[in-house]
Amino acid sequence: MSIPVRPDRRPVDQTETDRANRGEWDRYADEYQSTHGEFLGDAGFVWGPEGTREDDLRLLGDVTGRDVLEIGSGAGQCSRWVLAHGGRPVGLDLSARQLQHSRRIDEETGRAVRSVLATGTRLPFRPDSFDVVFSAFGALQFVAEERVIVTEAARVLRPGGRMVFSITHPTRWMFPDDPGEGGLTADSSYWDRTPYVEVAEETGEVAYVEHHRTIGDWVRALAGAGFVLDDIAEPEWPADHDRVWGGWSRTRGLLTPGTAIYVAHLG
Ligand SMILES: C[S@@+](CC[C@H](N)C(=O)[O-])C[C@H]1O[C@@H](n2cnc3c(N)ncnc32)[C@H](O)[C@@H]1O
Repeated sequence: MSIPVRPDRRPVDQTETDRANRGEWDRYADEYQSTHGEFLGDAGFVWGPEGTREDDLRLLGDVTGRDVLEIGSGAGQCSRWVLAHGGRPVGLDLSARQLQHSRRIDEETGRAVRSVLATGTRLPFRPDSFDVVFSAFGALQFVAEERVIVTEAARVLRPGGRMVFSITHPTRWMFPDDPGEGGLTADSSYWDRTPYVEVAEETGEVAYVEHHRTIGDWVRALAGAGFVLDDIAEPEWPADHDRVWGGWSRTRGLLTPGTAIYVAHLG
């Protein structure tokens, strides 16, 4: 169920971001799962709209016997992949409706993922609880405080633990969110971190927020939290892949990266 909104750019803090995005993901979850569920697969692990799979990249390493936290787990598809590969996943998400979809798929598949309703900037776990923390287009681009979420991940990871997350490629921020030719001409500054917001027409309240950080911001946040950066994967758009997902499409994907996957471990 969507509500009429108008786009804007304005400063928004973490509290307002969480309030707005919890509401938006609760409203949008049914449509999101019916639109993208088949592409994601009930126990599939897709890193982004390019369809890049963990089966091919293996960025998490061997998850057998590992405690694995997924931040922004949605309906738990990736966590279910971890379960199928011998790991012990926990899915954490801000949206109760997304987690209800996770429960629905648990029941349909007989593969149940433990899930927790919380925000990625306040992880309800003790220090040294996990071997791997990951997120596939989950919370990282929905937080005002990138240093806080990365530091929280470091806190709950065991020594040497791995953090891997995919986000909209930071260079995308320069372009309109348009999958067609209109999305190929830069019209915003790469360095402008002012959040993208959608404002409800009826109430004037912020109804949805995305935060942008540059490539360097993420490197500094990871280094500041004690991580060593191993890679920034930038999946190429497969020539035969013709799916449109929001502003992602073949038209744009063949020319410019849509997804960045940061791979790091605690030093
Ligand atoms: C684009 S979906 C990605 C989920 C899943 N990986 C997938 O591919 O469907 C983003 C998810 O992040 C969740 N999310 C947004 N902000 C969050 C936050 N601060 N903490 C935890 N989850 C958050 C949303 O509720 C949503 O389920």
